[in-house]
Amino acid sequence: MSPHTWSLLLLLCLDAVTAHEKCISKLIPNTESPVCVCNASYCDTIPALEKISSSHYVLYTTSKSGERLKKDVQSFTNSSSSTRSTVVKINIEKEYQTIIGWGGAVTDAVGININSLSIEAQKKLLESYFSREGLEYNLVRVPIGGTDFSTHLYTYDDGKEDLNLTHFSLSAEDLEYKIPVLKSANSYSNNTLQLLGSAWYAPDWMKTHNHTNSGYIKTSMYQTWADYHVKFLESYKEHGLNFWGITTGNEPSFASFMPLEIACNKWQPKQMVC
Ligand SMILES: *[C@@H]1O[C@H](CO)[C@@H](O)[C@H](O)[C@H]1NC(C)=O
Ligand SMILES: *[C@@H]1O[C@H](CO)[C@@H](O)[C@H](O)[C@H]1NC(C)=O
Ligand SMILES: *[C@@H]1O[C@H](CO)[C@@H](O)[C@H](O)[C@H]1NC(C)=O
Ligand SMILES: *[C@@H]1O[C@H](CO)[C@@H](O)[C@H](O)[C@H]1NC(C)=O
Ligand SMILES: *[C@@H]1O[C@H](CO)[C@@H](O)[C@H](O)[C@H]1NC(C)=O
Repeated sequence: MSPHTWSLLLLLCLDAVTAHEKCISKLIPNTESPVCVCNASYCDTIPALEKISSSHYVLYTTSKSGERLKKDVQSFTNSSSSTRSTVVKINIEKEYQTIIGWGGAVTDAVGININSLSIEAQKKLLESYFSREGLEYNLVRVPIGGTDFSTHLYTYDDGKEDLNLTHFSLSAEDLEYKIPVLKSANSYSNNTLQLLGSAWYAPDWMKTHNHTNSGYIKTSMYQTWADYHVKFLESYKEHGLNFWGITTGNEPSFASFMPLEIACNKWQPKQMVC
């Protein structure tokens, strides 16, 4: 999954009548649909969600032609015959899973780009993603170490084998980009963000091929790889950021079956069973 896929599909029994700022639409050359432009004094907003009656629903539409979370309040109908080509039947008596939330990833690339903006524009941008007037993102994926969205390959313990992780330390990217952006995002959010950590690759010395771009974690390194994750969580905690969860790694099966050599840890289901 690309960490930059900021997608939303909302069909919620909620409403609002608050005034909001419109999307200032701009078509980026060679792309098919426009983006909303923010600057230091203007960014589009979305009215905060409020409750509406159970016979109504709110439909948000984003389209290629330029609509961006265009809001319509509509009512359910009980029509058994419809001439429309698509009919959605909703049984409001029956509830299934609860959605934990929506979000995006704070990678090095995100931090570098946000840092390149003026302080006021950074504030507007983060508000538009995290605040009550924005998308209210509540989940953020944070890469553990470097990724393909970094300017170079790195882990928190590069170099010689270091079984006790004595040389473990966060990178400049964590301190300059990811941690400041996460703290700032937290300050705009109504709720504490739920952080999800994912590693792209282990230090070379933990891997079967001794290289970032290939190989599995050596079985003899499983404990060290677990300890590495714990150290990451503890290091972020020292900066006031507590994680909600971690994954076994980014795109484990993609890395296993791709013919290309990419920055990865390969994992297969059989290796995840003790
Ligand atoms: C910021 O965007 C708003 C809305 O498009 C525009 O009116 C204003 O002139 C822009 N400000 C700057 C400094 O570009
Ligand atoms: C639709 O039908 C159900 C069950 O017959 C009924 O409870 C409900 O009030 C009806 N809704 C509308 C909008 O007519
Ligand atoms: C790792 O730490 C343990 C416990 O402190 C120690 O016994 C062991 O020698 C250390 N191993 C290395 C490779 O430094
Ligand atoms: C935060 O959200 C709760 C509901 O989830 C709401 O009651 C409260 O007013 C919100 N606070 C702010 C500052 O928006
Ligand atoms: C792993 O690769 C590094 C860099 O090429 C090299 O210095 C090191 O000796 C290699 N380690 C092993 C165990 O092959």
